[in-house]
Amino acid sequence: MNPLAFSILRLLSDNEFHAGPAIAEALGVSRASVSNALRDANEAGLTIHKIKGRGYRLLDQVQWLERNVILEYLGDQADRFNLEILDTIDSTNSLLLYEADNRLSLGKGFIHVIAAELQTKGRGRRGRQWHSGLGGSLAFSVLWRFQQSASFLSGLSLAIGVAIVRALESSGIQGAVLKWPNDVMFNFCKLAGILIELHGDMLGPTIAVIGTGINLKLSDSVQARIDQGATDIFAISGECPDRNKLLAELLLNIAQVLREFEQSGFAPFKEEWVDHHVCEGKAVSLKLPDGSGQEGMVHGVSDSGSLLLQTSSGLRSFSGGEISLRRMA
Ligand code: ATP
Ligand code: BTN
Repeated sequence: MNPLAFSILRLLSDNEFHAGPAIAEALGVSRASVSNALRDANEAGLTIHKIKGRGYRLLDQVQWLERNVILEYLGDQADRFNLEILDTIDSTNSLLLYEADNRLSLGKGFIHVIAAELQTKGRGRRGRQWHSGLGGSLAFSVLWRFQQSASFLSGLSLAIGVAIVRALESSGIQGAVLKWPNDVMFNFCKLAGILIELHGDMLGPTIAVIGTGINLKLSDSVQARIDQGATDIFAISGECPDRNKLLAELLLNIAQVLREFEQSGFAPFKEEWVDHHVCEGKAVSLKLPDGSGQEGMVHGVSDSGSLLLQTSSGLRSFSGGEISLRRMA
């Protein structure tokens, strides 16, 4: 969607009908560009009601991200964050990775965050896609510079999972669980995903871009694009959370976890992580990079976030990377 579509959608956010010519006049564009922009919005999954003689009305109300409101929710932590909200971008992770050096040299001491209303090429692990629609999710990335090398960060995606569960629980959304290494689930369906991308020297420092996508209310068209069980907060709690408030809560929890992780690594989060692990004590099958499988019983995780499996040949440890964990039927 182009910038004009976003301006029109904001104008339509009052739940009233707006005539095409009035929209065109208010925004100083032609009527044809208004109808083209609205067609794009339809394709992005929004339902726009058009009634002859009355005009256009946005059927699914969008709660827009508002920087000032988010900063207010961040309270006395607000001035630690350098928060940018974009209408649309391919991927907040890609942009923050690209701009990492620049941002770190210009804004020393800040926690740099990019959130987007709409990601057009959201990314998951291993080149997979992360799908979202306008207003129905949160998609954001946080930049953090660690003094340590990348090997110190092996448990980071697990620790961020803890931060997300804490943020959900303190927002009144109970029952989210974790699945090794990086999924946040509810009822065996995926609620949120974490993508951590690193760059730096062998001995450190390491720059981490920590991307989080969380489903608030998935439209049917987004659901249809997801090739595994997915759920959203609306399905869990029966209401759509305040996007600005939830984003602030997530940022506060992620920042707190990052500060502690920087000092002590994953170990302090281990117990809380295992308590939330949906596969703890269960029989699972791991799909290894060479295509083979390893079956066993989940027996916690190590201090660095590796999965511990009780197998027929004893207790074995598996670190993230290319491994997929599936519960056995
Ligand atoms: P793993 O290999 O760790 O078991 P996974 O199958 O969840 O994980 P990931 O790479 O972690 O794979 O996540 C990407 C996958 O998430 C996509 O292939 C898709 O199946 C799913 N997905 C994409 N968008 C969403 C979404 N909004 N909500 C839930 N799941 C999604
Ligand atoms: C996964 O489960 O594989 C990870 C999904 C991560 C999605 C988030 S949305 C914000 C950030 N930008 C991206 O392109 N991906 C992450």
